[in-house]
Amino acid sequence: MFSDIVDEAAPIVDLKVGQGNVHLNNFLKLVQSRQSDRAFDGSRPVEKEKLMRILEAGRLAPSACNAQPWHFIVVDEPELKNKVADATATKILGLNHFTKQAPVHIVIVEEKVNFSSGFGTWVKDKYFAHVDIGIVASHITLAAADEGLGSCILGWFDEPKMRSLLNIPSNRRVLLDIIIGYSTQALREKKRKETEEIVSYNQYK
Ligand SMILES: Cc1cc2nc3c(=O)[nH]c(=O)nc-3n(C[C@H](O)[C@H](O)[C@H](O)COP(=O)(O)O)c2cc1C
Repeated sequence: MFSDIVDEAAPIVDLKVGQGNVHLNNFLKLVQSRQSDRAFDGSRPVEKEKLMRILEAGRLAPSACNAQPWHFIVVDEPELKNKVADATATKILGLNHFTKQAPVHIVIVEEKVNFSSGFGTWVKDKYFAHVDIGIVASHITLAAADEGLGSCILGWFDEPKMRSLLNIPSNRRVLLDIIIGYSTQALREKKRKETEEIVSYNQYK
């Protein structure tokens, strides 16, 4: 579906340590091709190699003081996956009713940060762990797009239900669930604020 924008099976760029800057000018095209997909081909599984590369993109994400405060639970066992999908849907708000269609959920659990990141959080009053997990979500969804897959980040779900389904300890927050599969939606135009509204140079305007 995105084949006119991004090659279906783009090869992993084999960067060598110490190689210096590499200009990958397809990045903006990749960013444009990612969207929140809310309809999937439920009969088409995600290939293991693709999933492994997506997880690797998440693993390599940067984090404050390299704390890496995350754990990824891949949910692909059909019965459990459907229960997890049910935990994301809400009747009252009519949210997330499409999630059962996706064959894979990557549930992101927030782990404890290291001393330096925790110290920084305390001194600067900035919750770095959530910033870190946001970056992971970006890596994962862009990597999925690069593999020709659709995805949707879900922040709305029943956290206690998710904990009990996946055996997550009660002292851990479940921050996001990212669903992945072959999208059946066409690429939409992005609805975003204009550049002039969000960017200023040399001073806040
Ligand atoms: C932290 C976060 C939580 C989100 N939670 C949900 C969600 O629960 N359900 C949903 O359908 N979309 C969810 N989204 C997707 C956003 O609605 C979507 O990214 C935004 O509207 C921009 O559209 P696009 O992703 O298609 O470009 C979430 C996105 C983020 C970043």
